[in-house]
Amino acid sequence: MNTKSLLSLVAGIFLLCSCHTEPASREGETGAADSVVVKNEVVNTILQRRSIRRYKPQPVEKDKWAQIVECGLYAPNGKGLQSWEVRVVDNPRLLASIDSAYSHFMGKGQGETTLRAAYGAPVLVFIAYDTTYDLSQVDCGLLGGNMMIAAQSLGIGSCCLGGICRFLNEPEGRELLDELDFPETHKLLYAIAFGYPDEEPSPKPRDMNRVRTVE
Ligand SMILES: Cc1cc2nc3c(=O)[nH]c(=O)nc-3n(C[C@H](O)[C@H](O)[C@H](O)COP(=O)(O)O)c2cc1C
Repeated sequence: MNTKSLLSLVAGIFLLCSCHTEPASREGETGAADSVVVKNEVVNTILQRRSIRRYKPQPVEKDKWAQIVECGLYAPNGKGLQSWEVRVVDNPRLLASIDSAYSHFMGKGQGETTLRAAYGAPVLVFIAYDTTYDLSQVDCGLLGGNMMIAAQSLGIGSCCLGGICRFLNEPEGRELLDELDFPETHKLLYAIAFGYPDEEPSPKPRDMNRVRTVE
């Protein structure tokens, strides 16, 4: 082996050693807690977010709320159309009506349930997509994602809610849906509950096998 090949071999071994990190997880699975990549505040915030299903009754301060909304609106959006329509509900009367109608609907035939539509969160945000724009649902998802991460960074918990919107889109939910006053062009897609968390759920493991690098 000549000097040049020896040097290449040493450099190769050095590179291999320096690139090695501990495996991030059990095979194919990772939870936020065991990620080992470099972290910064944004990464930490994303990894620490959980769906919160128990809230303190205290309201979210107006200035924090304004910031969460602003972060939502700054999400990327197709053609710059901002195709979403967003309704914020913090009115206790409307929250209680939604709760009780949803409970009644879910308990149909089996008596009332005690299920709470939004886990007692003090703020519910309803997001509707533009049915005339094919990528509007993507816009809406990105808007909500931004809002939830912004909320997390401010100590406020959140939970996406699909079930309640299925109900509101049924004939039984019509009256309440009308109160949200979406335009004819828009259909309710999902809601997000926001409030101060009253629980600390563990991270749910993620399946890393869903991601492949295509050579
Ligand atoms: C489109 C969508 C709909 C969801 N609907 C509900 C729901 O109706 N009720 C609920 O408790 N959680 C709902 N979730 C929350 C998911 O259950 C939760 O995000 C998932 O289990 C992962 O947990 P994590 O958010 O704590 O990481 C929904 C999430 C998404 C993205």
